[in-house]
Amino acid sequence: MSITTANIQMVDLTSQYHRLQAEIDQAIANVLHSGQYINGKDVHTFADNLSKYTGAQFAIPCANGTDALQIALMSLHLQTGDEVIVPAFTYTATAEAIALLNLKPVPVDVDWQTFNIDVAKIEAAISPRTKAIIPVHLFGQTADMEPIMQLAGKYHLAVIEDNAQSLGSIYTFSDGTKKHAGNIGDIGILSFFPTKNLGCYGDGGALLTNNETLANRLKMIASHGQAQKYYHEIIGCNSRLDTIQAAVLNVKLRYLDEFIAARQTAASSCLSKLESIYGMEMPFCISSSTHTYNQFTIKISNGKRDELRQYLKDKGIPSMIYYPLPLHKQPAYRDIVRISGDLSVSAKLCQSVLSLPMHTELSEEKIQFITEKIIQYGK
Ligand SMILES: Cc1ncc(COP(=O)(O)O)c(C=O)c1O
Repeated sequence: MSITTANIQMVDLTSQYHRLQAEIDQAIANVLHSGQYINGKDVHTFADNLSKYTGAQFAIPCANGTDALQIALMSLHLQTGDEVIVPAFTYTATAEAIALLNLKPVPVDVDWQTFNIDVAKIEAAISPRTKAIIPVHLFGQTADMEPIMQLAGKYHLAVIEDNAQSLGSIYTFSDGTKKHAGNIGDIGILSFFPTKNLGCYGDGGALLTNNETLANRLKMIASHGQAQKYYHEIIGCNSRLDTIQAAVLNVKLRYLDEFIAARQTAASSCLSKLESIYGMEMPFCISSSTHTYNQFTIKISNGKRDELRQYLKDKGIPSMIYYPLPLHKQPAYRDIVRISGDLSVSAKLCQSVLSLPMHTELSEEKIQFITEKIIQYGK
């Protein structure tokens, strides 16, 4: 098939579905025939499979990643006004869960190269009210967790990893120990939104932990605060992964490493072709983390990002701006955050970032088409 403007998409979910259709249709049909639409067998199998995949002792499925963040925060016995450190450059859900619980988000600037929280700026943001840090593993790469865990230990802070975007990314500690992103802090949260590394066909999420007491509390919170049906010990919420979505995820989890390898192959091909284009910076990989390329995000910091985006659009190539505003400039949050330091890198990134098409079905032919157009623009 020749490349036309009509067949380049940011994410191609249907081609992946067609590849796995027989297995997925069967898994969904099995649930439909079982009648166990809520908390069916597949939900429990998926929790076990996810726990095996990530190495976390406990995996607790829930309705979506935003709920997972809220449930994680609800489990920590925090008081109104307690502060939670977050990167200033992130998806809104990270701060939303904090604000909904009457806690205070404290944005910290991110590192220009990795887009992840700048570890050197965290300590200055810690106050006597700081109770937790939520590092976000943005775009497919783990934040620098070793120094984050050291700081958290020093100040007795809980660490909730927002791993909505980087399931499958592996972090290596200085002693050589390797851990899955999401299995390093006290709690890790995941999203199975369709475009994530492991996506279902609707909403889905999960929490990871190695602490049994915490795991029991998280489970209870996700289930109306009950361990035993109709006995509600704490205030919780209703956050369940549907059995149909769990069945889909059980199939797709078997392919997750393949999906990630496909993203990595596509990304290395883009990187080799776009190596040195004046005015453009390519994604940067830190040595301590693998990159799973949930997004392939470049930086154009000469003020021409929007011009490039329009040029690509005219050539039939979609692109996205993740994210156009830093947290502290969002109308919903600008009056409630506590600003503790300079956030200029995050602000500048919002003017500079552009995410290009990236998914498991991105063919070399399409990469050739996209990169050629970008090279022509750069000349
Ligand atoms: C960094 C981050 N955190 C949290 C979420 C929330 O996940 P969900 O859409 O499953 O609620 C997302 C989803 O896009 C995300 O990218």
